[in-house]
Amino acid sequence: MPDEPRLGDAYGEIMRAALAEETGVGVRPTIGGTIPRPVIEIVERDDGLINGAPAARYLCGPSQWQPFDLRALDRLDGRTLDIGTGAGRLALALQERGVPVVGLDVSPATVEVAAARGVRATVCATVGEHARAAGQRYDCFAMLGNNMGLLEGRHRAGDFLDALAAMARPGARVVAQGTDPYATTDSVHVTYHERNRAAGRLGGQLRIRVRYRDVATEWFDYLLCTAEELARLVASTPWRVEEIDDADAPFYVAVLRLT
Ligand SMILES: C[S@@+](CC[C@H](N)C(=O)[O-])C[C@H]1O[C@@H](n2cnc3c(N)ncnc32)[C@H](O)[C@@H]1O
Repeated sequence: MPDEPRLGDAYGEIMRAALAEETGVGVRPTIGGTIPRPVIEIVERDDGLINGAPAARYLCGPSQWQPFDLRALDRLDGRTLDIGTGAGRLALALQERGVPVVGLDVSPATVEVAAARGVRATVCATVGEHARAAGQRYDCFAMLGNNMGLLEGRHRAGDFLDALAAMARPGARVVAQGTDPYATTDSVHVTYHERNRAAGRLGGQLRIRVRYRDVATEWFDYLLCTAEELARLVASTPWRVEEIDDADAPFYVAVLRLT
């Protein structure tokens, strides 16, 4: 059997290389040490499916964003926690608008990259750790870049949303970007959804790890769900679905309101 990748901060390695790609400073991939290659984030799913996407999208400004990201940005105001901030593209856009924002991420090197790019307030933690540690209060919680996925599934979504509620000011909102996983006829995905349901999981409850060069994250659950599935997940939490903007289906922006 070939060696497994080493366990580590793969997201952080990706963001560092993407920053080097953007700025020309630091280590970035090349062919033969001279010809630049794009930094590619590799996502491996537990059925063997592998996908790659350029990491430059995590650093680009609003002029290059998808329309649904721009509409999510417009829905954020008041003190905002940018959850899974990555290289901080949203936090930087909010700062530009004068919206107070804290960029939170579990990846230490990612937080360093966000800070190096100008995100003024950062924290390296999970939302649970941040809720327990800080006594922080927020008006908005942002989950962009498909980060609705951080709800993970039926087993974890309640704890995640309870942690946000513990940090929420009255009337607070969650603005999260999600994807309907079932808007496909691709048999690889349809079979995966069926396999998940047979195992008692939500169809779009992905089991994935992120890889870069010889490094991989741990395997983790990342949820793609429909607006209806989302409504069922939040029903037993202090949040309610206030709005679903699915003008760019299968992608959507969900707004949850604290009850
Ligand atoms: C798909 S990227 C999205 C980055 C950013 N939101 C954007 O749209 O450009 C996911 C980010 O979430 C972070 N992340 C993953 N799991 C997390 C967790 N449990 N809590 C906080 N951040 C997490 C990763 O380190 C990564 O930076």
